[in-house]
Parts: sequence; C-alpha cells; structure tokens
Amino acid sequence: MDDETRDRLIHRLSLEDKVRLLTGATTWRTAGESAIGLREMVTSDGPAGVRGEAWDERRTSILLPSASAVGAMWDEDLVERLGGLLATEAARKGVDVVLAPTLNLHRSPLGGRHFECFSEDPELTGRTGAALIRGIQALGVAATAKHYVGNDSETDRLTVDVRASERTLREVYLAPFEAAVAAGVWMVMAGYNAVAGTTMTASPLLAEPLKGEWGFDGVAVSDWAAVRTTEETARAALDLAMPGPDSPWGASLVRAVKDGLVAEEAVDDKVRRLLRLADRVGALDPHHRRRPPASASRDTRALLRRAVSAGSVLLHNKAVLPFDPAKLSTVAVLGVHAASPRVQGGGSAGVFCSDVVTPLAGIRARLRGRARVVYAPGPALGSPPAPLDTDRCTDPETGAPGVRLRVLDAAGRELYAQRRFSGRQLEPDLPPGAHTVEIAAVLHPREAGEWTFGVGGFGRMTLTVDGHTLLDGEFPGDTDDPAVVHVNPPLHTVRTVLTAKRPVQLVARRELVPGRGRATVVAAAPPEPDTATALADAVRAAQDADAAIVVVGTTEHSETEGYDRAGLSLGGQQDELVRAVIAANPRTVVIVNSGGPVELPWRREAGAVLLAWFPGQEAGAGLADVLFGLAEPGGRLPTTWAASLTDAPVTRTRPVDGRLDYDEGLHIGHRAWLRAGREPAYWFGHGLGYTTWQYTAVEAPAHVTAGEPFTVRVTVRNTGTRAGREVVQVYLSRPDSAVERPVRWFAGYTAVEAEAGRTATATVVVGPCAVRHWSEEDHGWCVEPGPYRLMVGRSAGDVRWEGKVTLSVT
Ligand code: BGC
Repeated sequence: MDDETRDRLIHRLSLEDKVRLLTGATTWRTAGESAIGLREMVTSDGPAGVRGEAWDERRTSILLPSASAVGAMWDEDLVERLGGLLATEAARKGVDVVLAPTLNLHRSPLGGRHFECFSEDPELTGRTGAALIRGIQALGVAATAKHYVGNDSETDRLTVDVRASERTLREVYLAPFEAAVAAGVWMVMAGYNAVAGTTMTASPLLAEPLKGEWGFDGVAVSDWAAVRTTEETARAALDLAMPGPDSPWGASLVRAVKDGLVAEEAVDDKVRRLLRLADRVGALDPHHRRRPPASASRDTRALLRRAVSAGSVLLHNKAVLPFDPAKLSTVAVLGVHAASPRVQGGGSAGVFCSDVVTPLAGIRARLRGRARVVYAPGPALGSPPAPLDTDRCTDPETGAPGVRLRVLDAAGRELYAQRRFSGRQLEPDLPPGAHTVEIAAVLHPREAGEWTFGVGGFGRMTLTVDGHTLLDGEFPGDTDDPAVVHVNPPLHTVRTVLTAKRPVQLVARRELVPGRGRATVVAAAPPEPDTATALADAVRAAQDADAAIVVVGTTEHSETEGYDRAGLSLGGQQDELVRAVIAANPRTVVIVNSGGPVELPWRREAGAVLLAWFPGQEAGAGLADVLFGLAEPGGRLPTTWAASLTDAPVTRTRPVDGRLDYDEGLHIGHRAWLRAGREPAYWFGHGLGYTTWQYTAVEAPAHVTAGEPFTVRVTVRNTGTRAGREVVQVYLSRPDSAVERPVRWFAGYTAVEAEAGRTATATVVVGPCAVRHWSEEDHGWCVEPGPYRLMVGRSAGDVRWEGKVTLSVT
C-alpha cells in the first residue's frame, strides 16, 4: 500500500477516530478501525521469548538465551535465525509486534537490565541488533528497537535525566539505533528517562536524527505508560501511546488539536505511520494469515541448544575441558543453580517457559550409562520464596496440581474461579465489580520446620495458613514503575512451622486499589538446610569424584528490570562453596549463571570457568555439549569483566539531583579500561575455544578513502588438535588526533572455522562509520584524514598484529 492510499484512508476518519488510534486499545493491543479495515495489532515483549498477549502460565513460550548471551555469539547468521524463531513464536501466539531488541548499552556493570542488552560496544550491539531485527521482520512480524535512548540503567528510570554530550550520544548510545533503522526496523520505543532535560517521549531526538536524518518511517511508540503529558509528547515525533485505553492523549489530544496547540497534520502523520505498520504486519488485510508453525519442534530445540553453546564463554581453562566421558567414573555436580538454573532475567522480558533442561539434567543425560553423577546443592542462596507451583500445591477445589484463583466482589461473592498452575498471577481477568483477587492452595510440605511465605501486591493483603492469619496489612507501595507494580511486586514475608507430609490450606487475598495494578503473588519456601552441613556435603561429593562441576549465579532479585544491582558479588556462600570445592578437587569447572558481570575471586584457581549467562530453556543440553566436547564454547565476551567492582572505571547509575552525567563521554567498556590503564579480569572479545590459533598473516590496505569500507584479510592457523572457530577482531586508534578519541575502538570482526592444522582467512570489512567522528561545532559527521593504527587481535586486550592505514578525504 502506498502513501496515497493510506492518506485516502486517513481522510475518511474524523479527528476523534484518528486520535483514538494513537492510544492502545488494551495493555497489549493497538486500536482497530473497522471503517478502514484496520484490525487491532497485538504487541508482546521479547527479547528472550514471546510471551503472547497475556502473562498467563498456561500459555508457555519458547525461551531463548538472554540478550547478553546473544551478544556473546558474534555470529549474525545465528542471531538472525534466533530472530526467525521469535517471529515464529509471534505467529503462533497471534502477535504482530515483538518488543525487542533492547539496544541500550552495558555502561555500568551494575545495570539491572544488563542481561537484556547485548554489549558494551555500539558496533557489536548495532550489528547483533540488526541481525535479530532482520530475522524477526523477514516473517512479517515487527521488531522494536528499544529504549530510545540513554536508558542504560534502572535507578529512578522513570525520571532520570541523562546528560551526555552530543558527540557521546551520536557515537555511542544512538549508534545502535542508527544501525537498527538502517536494518529497516518497523518500530522504535521511546524510553522512560529524559535526555538533556526532556523526557524521551517528548524528546526532539525522535524527530532528529531518528525520523529526519536516518529516515525512520515506522512507528515511535512510548514505553509502557511513559507518556505523561498531552501536547509536548504529541508535538514531538511520538506516534503511539501505550498501553490503553487510558492515556494522556485521547480526549485531551482532540481538545489540544481543536485549540490549535497540536497541528492536525502531526496527528495525520502518526496515523500514516501506524497504517504503514499495519500494512507491514498484515493488519489491513482481512485475509492475511501467518502460518502458525508447530511449537517446540525438534529443529527449534536443536537451535536453542546450539544457541547455548554458541553464547557460552570459556573464560579460563587449565586443560580440564572438554571432559572425556570415557575417563570419568564419578562426577560431582554442585550448587543450587545446577538444579534450579536462572534461565532468564526478571521483569517485562520474562516468559512462562516449560521444559527447562537444567544443567544437572543435561549432565546426567550425557553421562547416563557411562559415569555416576552425584548432586549436592551446597548452601542455600537466601533468596526470597518462589511462587507456588504444581510441584508442591494442589487446587483445594479439585485436588489437581495447581492453585485456585478466584476473583470476588465487594460482598465476597465469587465472580469466577479457575485452577491455575502458578501462585504468580500478574494479569487476572477482572470482571465488573471485581474487588479482591484470591489465590488458595493446599501445600504439601516435604520438609519439616520453619517455612517462609510471601505475598506480593499492593493494597490490603491477607494470608491465612489453616485458618490462622499470618499476614494482614496495608501495602501502599512507593513506586509507579510498571516493572514493579505489574510484574515484580515486592513480597511481604512471614514464617510458620510446618510438619512434613501434613498438608496445609493457604488462602491469600489482595484487595484491588485503583492505580496499583492487579498482580498478586503467593510464594513459599521450605526451611533452609544447615549451611555448614550443606557445604561439607558438597565438598565430600567433590573429593570422591573424578571431576566437579559447580554452578553458581545471581538470584532472581539481583538482576531484574526496575532496579540496578548493589554489587557484583555472587551472594550467599557461593564464593566459599567454589573455593572449598576447588580445594577438594583440582578438576573443578565453575559454570557462572548470570546475565551480567560478577566477581570471580577464585577464578585463577579453578580448573576452568565457563560463563553460561541466562541460557534459556535448553540450558543443560547446550552446556553438556560444551562440557563434554560435542560443541566448542563459541562465545566471546561482549563486555569487559572487572575483577572487582572497585576496579571498574564506569559504575555510577545513581542520579544526583535527578541527573545522571555520562561524564566518561566516549569512554565506556574496554575504552574506559584502556584509558584508565587498568587490567580487567577479562577483556571485551575474550573467550577460549578448544583449540589454539596462530595469526600468520594480515593483509590490509595502506591507503583508504573516507566514506568507503575497507577490507582486512587475516590468515589464522589452527595449531591445536581439533576443529574450531576463531573470532578475528579489528580495532582502530588514532594517535595524535586533533580530537579526543578512545585509546582504541572496536571496528569489526569476522569468525572463521578451520580443521586442526589448517588455515583460514577472515575477511573483516571495516565500515565507513568506523573512522567518522561527530563534530559538536558543525553538528555533523567529520573524518580526520591521515594515519590510523590498525590492530588485529583476539580481544581488546590481546592484540596480535599492528599496522597503519592512511585515510584520505576526497
Ligand atoms: C519496559 C519495556 C517493555 C514494556 C512492556 C516496560 O516497563 O521498560 O521494555 O517492553 O514495559 O512490558
């Protein structure tokens, strides 16, 4: 459909009709208009899976590795295929718009949504994001580049005013969005935060560079509930206010147009863009059908499994990995995360996923019939209790596994009741007159002792256990952050002693209050085992085994949307556990299950350290492939890892007087480490495979021309004993530059594969953007002619070749 046809449709609509289209019809749907054949479009969060229209544990989703693992793949073909998988899921769930990828950067290691962003580097983030977008959109599903721009941490995210120079914004934080627009992204989401004093939903950055200079022709949507004013946001180049049906647009925007405060042409342009999106996803075509493919096919699981090994980063290896199963008779698998891994991060990216392969299950499957696997969890992590589930609870009404959800009116009459599978109910249906959400269950305790119960939500909440009231209070809450109110309401905990195998009746109630959402969570946790005994059991298992695999990681509550992290330590007694296990067995592999950097103070003593990130549903299958050598650990660090938080050059996420100054400018990530002259634990780009490489020759042009790409050819020899994949990286620097520069910056990469003893040539194309810089004086891109140093290496800290190229400007 061309613009003229779209304009004819727009002319058939009244101002009220047009404005109605610019606010969501529901939390996840845009509005439709039958007069012009426009149906509602369904949006759904990614990036690690497509939840579908509702938070409903009965409709599970396929779960990919989280974004930091995807950023570690350095493999655009694979990322594109993963994008295709998201689109397939979207089709299966009737979703038109996937709210992914997140293109914010790993500025501080404390960033709470680190797991949801690809990397610290604008080039790597841009390329990875573009690949995912291509993969999603190839199947006619829209991708969304978010959160435009400067939403790189979570503290006070609704109000924080990010201050970064024009050059820093252009070269660092806007660059991945520019790449997304170049890849043809159909939607861009404006963040909650402000930049340079203006909240992003009203920001001039939506017009320039996004829609003007870059030519973005899609829809600029608000982050959920980020539109807080009428005229400013409508006059800015924002197109769509989500969610709905209430928003500061609607009737107020109609009035503003009638009063001449917002031009009707601006409204028309927003509608035009919405119709373009509708056309792209088939929402203007009554016959359009995306073929919903079968879910969780073998191909899908194989792809997800491959994604786990492709994103896992082997940080360190004293020739312990890969294990040869033939040489093992007993393997100790240790750590709470081995049996209960974190497969995804917390917040809006979360999906309900079934069929998680735990590391323990993956290892057991691999060693079945070959070696004995002994599991000891070690000390508990001290995390808050987990939501009730079908494993421990039955529905009091039917006795079937699950819980009973009831919605009651003010007189306590039941409006409806359902058996559900989880004590975490985020979007219960609320019929007219709904007053109270109730979750009841029969809990079957396996462990005797003091249990912890938690109830999450806002407003008046009660909890009774066998008729005894344990909790009865008002919980008004002090935040409007949707990720807290609707997704992760704080748990209020109480304790009581239970007898093993004596079931108890739990009833939790939450009275609804306007503006405080409807999310209701009921959680329970058994008494924690004695720490010293748990540690001793783990150590004994390690001593008696030929090899030990310890899985450690962060908890649900330390890496989640809505909060930044307080520190980088693993928490609980995990460091003690690892140290004790290493002391007991030198053939110890530590698997780190976190979305962002953590401190690994024992890293040099470990036999091997493998970073699994949040690996998605095939976690254990993919990790077992790596551990036992069926696959190489394919990942390279997308972000520099500090040995300790105090070493990290850029950490601050807490605004001062509402402002967060990005005063480090261009120098984040490896650039910051290089500038500070400090050595991190592991550099950006670092990661080991199972073979070794020699860089034998580099061919690079001596002269290059501004505005044109150039090619660097790097020949590498596989000097090990097995086939492998090498990620060849190119960096640039400009000594004696007239403008401020990073010490060196990442300019491109290519991965090659070779059999043992063979050579391969990596052709790395360095794009013209790698040598441009933003001039604040001219408000434009410039190039500085003259010599640049060209570096080829295995990471930002491991340079294998240096040469010179001279840039001329024609
Ligand atoms: C998050 C977005 C998300 C939206 C809808 C917001 O709180 O910042 O990333 O897409 O909620 O769930």
